[in-house]
This record gives sequence, C-alpha cells and structure tokens, in this order.
Amino acid sequence: MNFELKPLDLAGSSQLKSDALIVILASGHKLGKDLLSQKINSAIKAGEIDTKPGKLLSLFKVDGCFAPRIVVVGAGEGSARQIRQAVTAAMSALRSGAGTLKRLVVVLAGQETGVVLRSAVTAVADASYVYVTTKSKFEERTLERVIVCVPTAKVLDLDFRKTVATIYGVEFAKEWANRPANHATPVALAQAARSLARHDRISCQVFGPKEVQKLGMGSFAAVAQGSAQPLRFIVLKYEGAARSQAPTVLVGKGITFDTGGISIKPAAEMDEMKFDMSGAASVLGVFRSLAELRPQINVIGLVPACENMPGGKALKPGDVVTSMSGQTIEVLNTDAEGRLILCDALTYAERFKPRAVVDIATLTGACVIALGNVRSGLFASNDQLADRLLAAGEATQDLCWRMPLDEDYAEPLKSNFADVANVGGRPAGAITAAKFLHRFADKFPWAHLDIAGTAWKGGAAKGATGRPVGLLLEFLLSDLPIPAVNRK
Ligand code: BES
Ligand code: MN
Ligand code: ZN
Repeated sequence: MNFELKPLDLAGSSQLKSDALIVILASGHKLGKDLLSQKINSAIKAGEIDTKPGKLLSLFKVDGCFAPRIVVVGAGEGSARQIRQAVTAAMSALRSGAGTLKRLVVVLAGQETGVVLRSAVTAVADASYVYVTTKSKFEERTLERVIVCVPTAKVLDLDFRKTVATIYGVEFAKEWANRPANHATPVALAQAARSLARHDRISCQVFGPKEVQKLGMGSFAAVAQGSAQPLRFIVLKYEGAARSQAPTVLVGKGITFDTGGISIKPAAEMDEMKFDMSGAASVLGVFRSLAELRPQINVIGLVPACENMPGGKALKPGDVVTSMSGQTIEVLNTDAEGRLILCDALTYAERFKPRAVVDIATLTGACVIALGNVRSGLFASNDQLADRLLAAGEATQDLCWRMPLDEDYAEPLKSNFADVANVGGRPAGAITAAKFLHRFADKFPWAHLDIAGTAWKGGAAKGATGRPVGLLLEFLLSDLPIPAVNRK
C-alpha cells in the first residue's frame, strides 16, 4: 500500500483520480463554493449530515467529482477516538458497495492536527488489512493507494511519515503474530528477522541451541527442551547513529506456542497461544518501521524464540535451572515460561551498555484481568523512562498504564531450593511477574510492557493488533531532536 499527503481542500481533492472519497467532517470545518461543498452544505441544511459522531452520508456520482463514491462522515470534535470510529464506519460503508476500492482519497475537513491525521490514516490501514497467508481462497486487499488531503501538508509531514512507517511495522507484526504456530516456528521467525537485514542499516545474527547453551542461558534452554522445534535467539541491530551513541534495547517474548508445558493449559481457546510471540512480532515490526523512517538512533532487538511443550524431555515443576546471570530459579509452574526466557535475554542485553532496555511480552493473564484490552501494563525502574513510554502511548493512541514495582511484591517469589521461584501466588500476578524480571534488569534503566490484553483480539474478529509497535516507535523517536522538516 502506498500513502501520500497532499495540500488540497475539498474542491482540489474532488478532482483527484480515485475510486472513492471519504470526507471527515469535524467541528470547525470550512466548506468552499465548489460543487461538492455545495452538495454537502445542502445536506447539512436538510439535516442529512453533520459533525455528530456516527452520522454518515453516502453519495454516488456527484457532478464535478472524479470519485464515483463519496462518503461524508461526522467526527465530532475530532478526538482520536471519534476520528477512528468515523473512518472505520466510512470504510465499512465503502466495503458494502459494489465497486473495487483501489485508490482512496481521504479529506480532513476541520481539526487538521497531527493526532487527527495519524488516527485517520491508521484507521484506513486497519480497516483494509486482510490476513491471507494460510488461506487457499481469499479476497485480497484491493487498496493500493491512499491520498490524504489537508489544507497545509508541510506542518503535518513528520506526523504523516511516522504514521506510514508505523503502518508498515504494524502490518509486519500482525502478519507474524497471526501466522499459526506450525507456520511461525522459531526457525521461521528467525528467517523473518533475517529478511529485515536486507534493509540498509539493519543487521541480524541468529543463535541456535549450541550457542545458547554456551552463553549459559540455562533458563531459556530449559523452556525449549520439551519441543521438537529447535530454539532460536535473534539479535537485530539498527545502526542509524554513531557507534559511540548507546543503543536502546528492545526484548520481545517469542514463545511461538504456549501449551503451558507440563503445567498444561485447559483446551478452551488454547489456539490463541499462537499469539504468545506477539512481543517478538512487535520488535520485528519496529525494525520494519525503522527501515522505512531511517532515524538517527541506535536500536538493538533481542528475541528468545521457542515453543513451550509438554513431553518426555520437558521441564518439570520443581526443576531448578541456572540462568545466564548465575541466579538459580525453581520452576514451580512451567506455564510461567515467558519470564524464564526473558530473564536470559535481559542479561544478554547488558553487553550493549544500553541507555534503556524495554521488554515486551504477553506475560500474564492477570494483566488482562487488570487492564483488559485497552491499555498495556507498564512497569519501569526509572521514572523518566516510564514518562516517555506513557507519553508515546498517548501520542499514538497505543495506550499503556503504569503499575507498581514495590519490593514487597517480590515476597511470594521466595524459594526454599533456589535463589528465586518463577511464580508467586494468584494475587497481583502481573506485578510478581514483573518483579521476577526486575531481578535481571538492575544494570540499566528498564521497562516492561505486559501486552497480554492488547496484542490480539479474540472472538469473531480474532487477530493480532500489531500493538505496541506504534508506542515503541514513537518512544524511540522521542529521544531525537525534532528534525527541521517539522518546524513551521
Ligand atoms: N502466555 C501466558 C500469558 C497469557 C495468558 C497471555 C492468557 C494472554 C492470555 C503466560 O505464559 C502464562 O501462561 N502465564 C501464566 C502465569 C501463571 C502460571 C503464574 C498465567 O497468566 O496464567
Ligand atoms: Mn505460559
Ligand atoms: Zn506464555
């Protein structure tokens, strides 16, 4: 898909060669004297359309307009949520029509801000996304080109480029998270990472079981040992700044399928545990975005990837494993495997002397209970880092919420047979999981995003969301001075 931002008003945009035109009508809009504006004005007078959220008017073959299909949609005061809902409604109105949608023009009328632009373009991409990889018969995405029209394009250029880069990353993340576990094995995931190294400034290194054993990642290796699929440890590098500039490290949980292991999960909805590598997918997605945007920063991506399976070779409850940090861990529940693979990746991150480390993981069901599918759980050992992540979430509407890390929450992790146990009790399950990781993240500013509730949707719309690629990219860029192109 191809996106373009054009400095055009309604009159100008109605002349563009396209199959459909979406006019987003928010408060403060100014209509002109052209034929389309007149048509919309008379519809407003007749009460057929206004800026009220949920209002929608479909027009067909309007004199003086190139696009045969036009949808005018109300978006209230133009909040990010109102814009998203308006665009989603307009896209489904267009989809219910007959013609194919190859070229789409979107016009922002009223509230033409960066937030509105981002929200509108993201909603178009979301609504047109289709998963096809493992279908033999499918309707492909027809949309090839999206032209977004705003009165003055220059001031919104950076927002636009960030949004487009995010969309590429989000779609890469969705694709890999959606693929079933027999198509997205640790080996396949490593191949996907390698494919990213085709882009300038990106390189990729992949370790197998022997190298991981040699590195001393006994905790990661223990999770992988029950599976017929060999583990992979993926190291991605994006070098956009001088070598002397310390990198930010992103660590993504890459459990390609989580059965729970010997502490096996119930059968209902277990298929959804193919999404347990969504953290890893978001890291790959961010690299896809970086390839697009080419900012002057250094970023490292680390992905421990393996399956969590039961079997004769599998890890057992009560087993004690030795992590790369030297700390021993009593595995009281083999279903708390995410933290067992992440702890070794966190220790590995030390060698990069990072400015910050952020891990991203579908870590706990408890986080889903706490925050649902609206906000990801944010844990941080550093307030500045937390604030930057919170702000990046707000800016991209890829929201998170800070959770506590008081030392008292680590009490239940005490073990009689090792330095630490891998589970506490049921209370505060998302926090005890974070406290476990905290023990392995004392050498750098660290944050942890629990995306168990936000990485995918269940039910009829089952599928990956591509979150939190938007949040992470915005966070990485928040370390940069604002480029000249964004200055008025
Ligand atoms: N991948 C799961 C967490 C999860 C569960 C994500 C449901 C999304 C939906 C994780 O590996 C897990 O199984 N966690 C356990 C931890 C428990 C054994 C302490 C959980 O949350 O039940
Ligand atoms: Mn598990
Ligand atoms: Zn898991």
